[in-house]
Amino acid sequence: MNSTLQHYNELKQALNAHAHRYYVLDAPLISDAQYDTMYQELEELEREHPEWVSGDSPTQRVGGAVLEEFNSVRHGQAMLSIKTQTDSEESGAKSFDDRIRKELSLTQSEQSVQYVAELKFDGLAINLTYLNGVLVRAATRGDGTHGEEVTQNVRSIMQIPIQLMAPKGGLPIPEWLEVRGEVYMRRADFDRLNLRQQEKISQGLKNEKTFVNPRNAAAGALRQLDSKIAAQRKLSFFAYGVGAVRAKALNALGINYSHAELQTALDALTQDEAASRVELSLNELRAMGLSSHWEVLNWLKGLGFPVATQTQCVEGVEGLVDFHERMGRERMSLPYDIDGVVYKVNRLDWQLQLGFVTREPRWAVAHKYPPQEQFTTVLGIEVQVGRTGKLTPVAKLAPVFVGGVTVTNATLHNEDEALRKDVRVGDTVIVRRAGDVIPEIVGVVLEKREVQSAPFEMPKRCPICESPALREPGQVDHRCTGELFCSAQRMQAIWHFASKRAMNIEDLGEKLIEQLVQTDTIKTVADLYRLGLSSLMVLERMAEKSASNVLKSIESSKATTLARFLYALGIRHVGESTAKDLAKHFGSIDAIMNATAQQLLEVRDVGPVVAMSVVAFFAQPHHRELIEQLRALGVHWQEVQIDLDAVKPLQGMTYVITGTLNGFSRDQAQDRLESLGAKVASSVSKKTTAVIAGAEAGSKLEKAQALGVPVLDEEAFVALLARHQTQEMD
Ligand code: IVH
Repeated sequence: MNSTLQHYNELKQALNAHAHRYYVLDAPLISDAQYDTMYQELEELEREHPEWVSGDSPTQRVGGAVLEEFNSVRHGQAMLSIKTQTDSEESGAKSFDDRIRKELSLTQSEQSVQYVAELKFDGLAINLTYLNGVLVRAATRGDGTHGEEVTQNVRSIMQIPIQLMAPKGGLPIPEWLEVRGEVYMRRADFDRLNLRQQEKISQGLKNEKTFVNPRNAAAGALRQLDSKIAAQRKLSFFAYGVGAVRAKALNALGINYSHAELQTALDALTQDEAASRVELSLNELRAMGLSSHWEVLNWLKGLGFPVATQTQCVEGVEGLVDFHERMGRERMSLPYDIDGVVYKVNRLDWQLQLGFVTREPRWAVAHKYPPQEQFTTVLGIEVQVGRTGKLTPVAKLAPVFVGGVTVTNATLHNEDEALRKDVRVGDTVIVRRAGDVIPEIVGVVLEKREVQSAPFEMPKRCPICESPALREPGQVDHRCTGELFCSAQRMQAIWHFASKRAMNIEDLGEKLIEQLVQTDTIKTVADLYRLGLSSLMVLERMAEKSASNVLKSIESSKATTLARFLYALGIRHVGESTAKDLAKHFGSIDAIMNATAQQLLEVRDVGPVVAMSVVAFFAQPHHRELIEQLRALGVHWQEVQIDLDAVKPLQGMTYVITGTLNGFSRDQAQDRLESLGAKVASSVSKKTTAVIAGAEAGSKLEKAQALGVPVLDEEAFVALLARHQTQEMD
């Protein structure tokens, strides 16, 4: 083995370069095993020659030291903040551009200003100090002039170079360089961390907690005194600018660039000197031949830093508005949180000219998005009973505007989830609503909890009918055992039976069903077909006209299809598409009623859970009786023809419909597609054939674009139907 210092240095450099390819460029050249072998060799050399080890060795990333507290250190150049603009898209960008043009004395006719548009990452600002290309210090922003030294923790962030790369033919690396950027946690890493934390808590580890959001978790990791723990909490990094820069040619400070000397020199600086240094740094960059922020970012990329790929050079207000709008849409599909975008004047000479107001540069502004998280209080926890008897705890919230809507409810799903989140009445909680995802409580602000509050308890009895509520072994849900004795379940069962895609009894609204059930006028869905004018007219707000409309729509629901009827019965796990598959396969209700689990399993997409549920449903005599009653009352369906050979033109295709179509309701569009053999799904995946996007399509459209799933507008959709409809007819 070659154990010269030169070999050691080459090995170290190679390992750093491979880490960069793997973590920053996402384009590794060697396998993990090859990397490990090289790494082990480095470790061995370091064991033999401990005197060789320095901060730029990959072995120094793993951490080890446990600190008592963090040192306060002075930044080489103040860390500024940015002015925030929250106005609507157009005016936010416009007023910034107007101000810039005015300060630069540009006339109307002069060309538009070029900006760099960046994401505003929702993490923590960090200042990285490199001396002669080696990372010697990392500090948090602190008060802007002094921050906390968190070097050991930051070294564990694999995306941050510990040794700068010198691109061939590129600029020389300045002896002293501060790189500014954001340390953040990816959502996936955050979820994994919280799962791990949850496990620790359930194992009884006292001092562990879960985190409310990635930003919070990133802050916790950076401020870990035990660097080994910090290293386990996968953090990421994006560079967005530079601080102090001293190239040899303009060595204004006259220091030797050792870590200790840097510290002394910094402490000796007066406020005035510190303030003038922003200008100095900009001039250093310009002397190096960099004339724009865009060039600076590219230079940083070449040194080994990750720069967000979304970062863009744009022209004038239109460019800014466009970027803000586009990122607002793409925000949900990013793997990390952003809370806005940042606009920066591109030209460095203009940045110099524009200068600063107090602690903010005039050349940059942050344009925020409406918050996706808000604080609110829990007014109560209500337990709701669903159609199948499932008990769901729901937190009632003081109304709060978040993610573009007012939220008053958030589901806690089930007992485990409610206890895991430990949400209590009176708690201050963080509510999150991202995209069109249902709102959720992400965490409780424990500091604000009232002392006398008690943990949530799942009721032992159904809150509606008081039958015992049971949670079967291995199940997460509690269920009311009252079945159709429970008016909540009865009501929901009837509501489902009458719903549009089931029996489609148009004039039978929710309020009316509620009254019918509460007054015991109807007990089962069969009773619907026994209703007469007189029994309806005694109800509130029921005149003869509306009562007879109700009867008419009940009457016309009698003629239906087997699939609709089957779906209307509300058999657990039998949704619309399963009902269609069953109807097609068996052809008659009697065949389905008498099918064994084995026979049911032969149906496309039917698994053991569905099969068992169907068998269990028809094993109950009162269900069979109900079906007989319905038949006797005149409910009938066109028995479907079993034609196994007929392959429909869109068989095997899956579509997702989003946005508003002009010529079709959602249901109509779905029916048309299904009649051609296609399936219609509610969420987009790689398997989706195409997304049909009407006006104001939102996140589903974005997801399709992100996954490369084809998108059809209404015109293309109509053409698709026309193409296949004719085929159907011949
Ligand atoms: S530039 C001179 N760019 O926003 C302007 N800041 O600054 C200095 N932030 O906590 C900051 N993304 O960490 C800049 N692309 C970006 C940013 C960004 C996030 C954070 C920064 C600081 C806050 C205000």
